[in-house]
Amino acid sequence: MRILIEKGHIIDPSQGIDGIGDVLIEDGKIKEVRAKSKEQGAESKKQKPHKSNSELRTIDAKRMFVIPGLIDMHVHLREPGFEYKETIKTGTAAAIRGGFTTVCCMPNTYPINDNASVTEFIIRKAAQEGLCTVLPIGAITKGQKGEELAEIGTMRNEGCVAFSDDGQPVMNSLIMRRVLEYSKAFDVPIISHCEDLTLSEGGVMNEGLLSVTLGLRGIPAEAEEIMVFRDIMLAGLTGGRLHIGHVSTEGSVKLIRDAKRRGVNVTAETCPHYFSLTEDALRDYDTNAKVNPPLRTKRDIEAIKEGLKDGTIDVIATDHAPHHRDEKLREFDLAPLGISGLETALPLSLRLVDEGVLTMNQLVEKMSFNPARILGISSKGSLKQGSDAGVTILDTKKEVRVEAEKFVSKGKNTPFDGWVLKGMVVITISKGRICEWQ
Ligand code: DOR
Repeated sequence: MRILIEKGHIIDPSQGIDGIGDVLIEDGKIKEVRAKSKEQGAESKKQKPHKSNSELRTIDAKRMFVIPGLIDMHVHLREPGFEYKETIKTGTAAAIRGGFTTVCCMPNTYPINDNASVTEFIIRKAAQEGLCTVLPIGAITKGQKGEELAEIGTMRNEGCVAFSDDGQPVMNSLIMRRVLEYSKAFDVPIISHCEDLTLSEGGVMNEGLLSVTLGLRGIPAEAEEIMVFRDIMLAGLTGGRLHIGHVSTEGSVKLIRDAKRRGVNVTAETCPHYFSLTEDALRDYDTNAKVNPPLRTKRDIEAIKEGLKDGTIDVIATDHAPHHRDEKLREFDLAPLGISGLETALPLSLRLVDEGVLTMNQLVEKMSFNPARILGISSKGSLKQGSDAGVTILDTKKEVRVEAEKFVSKGKNTPFDGWVLKGMVVITISKGRICEWQ
């Protein structure tokens, strides 16, 4: 099948394209892009329309943005083991609704993805039921216990694109050193969940005046920053490929900025909730805003925005962490951590464009091009000829009210319920399917 997307505002950082034009898709691959590119300063040479007998579907994308399908390098799909929270089918449907055509799923399932047979299960299930591409992330340590390295090599061969003990830090520095050494040999990023458990233990929110006022145990910013510092040191020592997950504090941004200046092989991500909400969201003990790392302060938000702007933070990922309603209804101390993020990430991130923090081009870099580059998946995150045809079409002017109950994800746990946001995904093209909303 052929799909022609006409007259949209195409943004493709991989080719410096930022202008009105057409995208032709054929048999699931980008066949041709004709647009004004920044470098060319003029419309690229018109080519004769490709002759083909296959059916042609034309999409009018006037007044819309046409961008490479978004890539989320940090989601929890919960399958196998926690299908009551989410499945590969519902999680990828939520991804598509949110404009994502590729998601990378964290290993904290049951069983944990710490060996090739679990990796193989996820890949097989995703091929059967996934609405978008699913790329698994393997555990760093067996059982995510932090004691013994998992089968990195065999999981890599089976298709893992990164390794992480996300949800848990690797407290043992020697193990972190070893996996960073492995990351060079297997050319794969290590996504670090930075949390010093000895400082965070028992904590449920940011440590500060508010935690004292609310009578909740706090987690100091230093619990994250000490581990960011340690991992940067280990990346320096080994030359391994370090990616810092869910950055939430000013101090972490500073440490990463400094490390990058010194040439350390480090990249970083943050999530929409860390630049959209402060700890104030917890004033009414709303468990939907309980997340790890915790929501921080205004100052941290400003630093994160600055880090996104100057390139210290390469990626916006969701850390999509769906939980069952009944679990989030528990007492604050006992409710699980996490936010269902796939269906609000793009409009929340578009606020950064409205505020002038990012250009549209930088936003696409952080939500598509950079994740592809970090993960080494060159067939995605681009509209170059021959790339996989994951494409997102969005109307950035359209206002939408967040309605958790209408989420496609099983996880309705969002602190953004009722928010009115600008930016609606109108069409997501993934795996040869066109998903369309009004
Ligand atoms: O809030 C979080 N939820 N942070 C994590 O690191 C793990 C995640 C989960 O698995 O629920």
